Amino acid sequence: MDGKNRSSRISGLHKKSIRERIELVGAFAGLDAAEMDHLANTGNLDEHVADHLIENVIGTMNIPVGVATNMLIDGKDRLVPMATEESSVVAAVCNAARQCYDNGGFITSMSGPLMIAQVQLVDIADPQHARIKILERRDEIKAICDECDPILVKLGGGFRDLEVRIIATRGGDMVITHLIVDTRDAMGANAVNTMAEKLAPYIAAWTGGRTYLRILSNLADRRLARARCVWKAEAIGGAEVRDGMLAAYHFAEADPYRAATHNKGIMNGVSAVVLATGNDTRAVESGAHAYGARLGRYSSLTHWERTAEGDLAGILEMPMAVGLIGGATKLHPTAKVALKILSVQSAEELARIIAAVGLAQNFSALKALATTGIQKGHMALHAQNIAMMAGALGDEIEIVARALVAQGKVRVDLAEAELAKLRSK
Ligand code: MEV
Repeated sequence: MDGKNRSSRISGLHKKSIRERIELVGAFAGLDAAEMDHLANTGNLDEHVADHLIENVIGTMNIPVGVATNMLIDGKDRLVPMATEESSVVAAVCNAARQCYDNGGFITSMSGPLMIAQVQLVDIADPQHARIKILERRDEIKAICDECDPILVKLGGGFRDLEVRIIATRGGDMVITHLIVDTRDAMGANAVNTMAEKLAPYIAAWTGGRTYLRILSNLADRRLARARCVWKAEAIGGAEVRDGMLAAYHFAEADPYRAATHNKGIMNGVSAVVLATGNDTRAVESGAHAYGARLGRYSSLTHWERTAEGDLAGILEMPMAVGLIGGATKLHPTAKVALKILSVQSAEELARIIAAVGLAQNFSALKALATTGIQKGHMALHAQNIAMMAGALGDEIEIVARALVAQGKVRVDLAEAELAKLRSK
């Protein structure tokens, strides 16, 4: 394909084989044979599985899976697989967990596996009237919803509650029905979306309005995972460290600019476990940030306090819509192994572990920020990436990285110089 005539209008790409797609893309982008072979190597994800997970597959993206150690959660020792490309994330969790292990580790809980689906109703002259009409149909609504998923009902899940809200919008009043559904061990998107779609025509008929959107809400505030933990002041470096960490939290609580970064750190841990277990990172992330803003101003997802004994108590409470069935959890071989390592029996157990990881991550970030700064620990690990970027291989990576850290400057040009020096010996 000539560079000038490149067109992204490729019909039927999805019908081609992975190799054919790679060749088409290769011609479009000028990939060489080695680059195309690289794409064709799907590693430990069978190419047929990859090809059926999404459309137009041309390869897979390998991200390291690390395992967080020292995690004592509700009295049980856990090893927690985490998929992340960020150098210091796994180490941060291990360190935080080590510092609270002797004090009992993390205690977790969950509000329940309830998801919300929304049905949007518009063109309603009398929204108050419509609202009550919908509420009156609760039993019928329950039957319509439960009929959509008899297996879920058999497993103890299904319709649980109904909420009808009137919201004032730029386009006029809307009547929004919330279906509250116990989705058990499923993340539940498919289950609740099916129910909302089934119910919508009934709502339109009962009220005389028109329904448009029928979709879950990722603000899963009926599915809150909670983790708490007390770090002894002496285990974390004393009262000064504790107070610095509290000041860091107060900053995040008061300031959305800081809260965004504070919560990003929490999500470093949360998303890594969500990804490793084949769950939907975007669903959990949007839920987390929406929940962080629920009081009208975006704020910290964690809360930190000084206990009566002078120790540091941390809590994390956030929506955690994860499942053990559906999505990639049962299809991706790495996700299946990750779940086996976690040895969780329910989606709730998984959600609670993830909350503990998020809290641990936040602890380590606050501690580093309030003491030595984040760069010291981060740079030691980052230096290894820089060494690899400079071309270091095998044992050279560690040697070059150490030399960069010793100089206090982590730069590719310096890494190249160190590597040259090493190789000339
Ligand atoms: C970096 O990925 C995460 C931190 O910025 C989190 C924080 O600032 O709390 C270190």
